[in-house]
Amino acid sequence: MRALVRETHLDPAQFILPLFACPGEGVRREIGSMPDNYQLSIDELVKECAEVHALGIGGVILFGLPESKDEMASGAYDDNGIVQRAIRAVRRETPELLVVTDVCNCEYTSHGHCGYIIDGDVDNDTTLQWLAKSALSHARAGAHIVAPSDMMDGRVWAIRQALDANGYEKIPVMSYAAKFASVFYGPFREAAESTPQFGDRRSYQMDPANGREAMREIELDLQEGADIIMVKPALAYLDLIRQARDRFDVPIAAYQVSGEYAMIVAAARNGWIDQERAMLETLTSITRAGASIILTYFAKAAARVLG
Ligand code: PBG
Repeated sequence: MRALVRETHLDPAQFILPLFACPGEGVRREIGSMPDNYQLSIDELVKECAEVHALGIGGVILFGLPESKDEMASGAYDDNGIVQRAIRAVRRETPELLVVTDVCNCEYTSHGHCGYIIDGDVDNDTTLQWLAKSALSHARAGAHIVAPSDMMDGRVWAIRQALDANGYEKIPVMSYAAKFASVFYGPFREAAESTPQFGDRRSYQMDPANGREAMREIELDLQEGADIIMVKPALAYLDLIRQARDRFDVPIAAYQVSGEYAMIVAAARNGWIDQERAMLETLTSITRAGASIILTYFAKAAARVLG
């Protein structure tokens, strides 16, 4: 009877699994603060993607750890960069799997910030050019969706122009529209080796206190041409997922970020919480709040349970 009257259902097809591509061969390095998640060389990442596809998961989002980093984030928009090569390999081996790419510079800059630094702060408009070039190089490599996560102003428009001008008008933009300067990204920064070397990201990411501003950020991204919008993190921002759902008739994604994952797994490993139930309860709540797409490190585990 409970099943009959249940209002919210989970489906593996709504999940996107974040994956981290790294140089080398046969590399499968577990991320300390994110058990069961790995930095994967491209050959290993391709195998992982085959498994993801077999589990009926909606897709993957790719992040890259470049060979070397510099002040210009050159690795981000290099047609032979780590993510570009990973995209080509995945598209070749699992052509049916949806490939999303994270478009940002923080994994590629020597200082770990999301853009070009002038006077100790990120310069918005120079950064837009890098982002447009990165998104275009991802599309050229075969990405199905590009997802800018940098939070520069005007980046959706800049990316849309670059894609359209080069024959990629059919590639959608999933925008990290309401992305907060959150403590919950800590484990990710270990995974992606992208911790800022000075300062923090508060000059471009949002203040957790500001819900009205989040709606404005989403509205602007939609005006600039975003096709899917995202709220990030998820659990601490369920109210904003709900508000966005009620206000905007576009697909809404939520990112259950690294720290949300790490908290559940750490508590479970201490015997303080049941991991499977915590996973399903949080994913159900994020869905109930209004997200139809969830980026989550639990994608495989949840798909197995739901399978
Ligand atoms: C890149 C980016 C970050 C995350 C996704 N894209 C890190 C950050 O903004 O510092 C975080 C994801 C997570 O914590 O799981 N800008």
